[in-house]
Amino acid sequence: MGSEQLKNGVAQRLPAGRFQHVLRVTETAMILADRFGEDKEKAETAALLHDVAKAMPKEELKRIVVSEGDPAGVLGFHHELWHGPAGAVIAHDEFGIRDADILAAVRFHTTGRSGMSRLEKIVFIADMIEPGRNFPGAEQLRAEAERSLEDALIACSAHSLQYLVSVRAAIHPDTLRCYNDSLSQGKGALNR
Ligand SMILES: [Fe+2]
Ligand SMILES: [Fe+2]
Repeated sequence: MGSEQLKNGVAQRLPAGRFQHVLRVTETAMILADRFGEDKEKAETAALLHDVAKAMPKEELKRIVVSEGDPAGVLGFHHELWHGPAGAVIAHDEFGIRDADILAAVRFHTTGRSGMSRLEKIVFIADMIEPGRNFPGAEQLRAEAERSLEDALIACSAHSLQYLVSVRAAIHPDTLRCYNDSLSQGKGALNR
């Protein structure tokens, strides 16, 4: 499937505003791929598909996650986390994606996890720093992503944890593992 066909397929599944977000994430992911030596086409495909399940009804997301046995254990957490694993299933079944790295980038874009590939990191970070994001601290995250993918991952996963704590949301174990693992890979730990 070419990128135009992919774009059209994703556009049909999302409200206009969400699709614009997807296009900005895709553009950002391709810049990061260029900067940090990832395959740009893979970054484009993964970013275009990352939110493919975002607009599906909760019940449908749940059905898909249950059907594959909920390996990451997201069903016990906020339904916001369900569209990652469900999106990987849609990418595989309806868009014919067979590349395990692309599928993982879609699957883990919301929680993160330990041992993320370069592509997974790129999609996770691009989702958080795309130009439409204007939360306090977004500029700092963009600055980190200018120079180091590892430090950007630390900053983005720290931001994500801080946000979750601030709204008293439960933290998925993969989110915590992502943060801990990012510290061991980057130079951003404050106690070094
Ligand atoms: Fe998402
Ligand atoms: Fe997104």
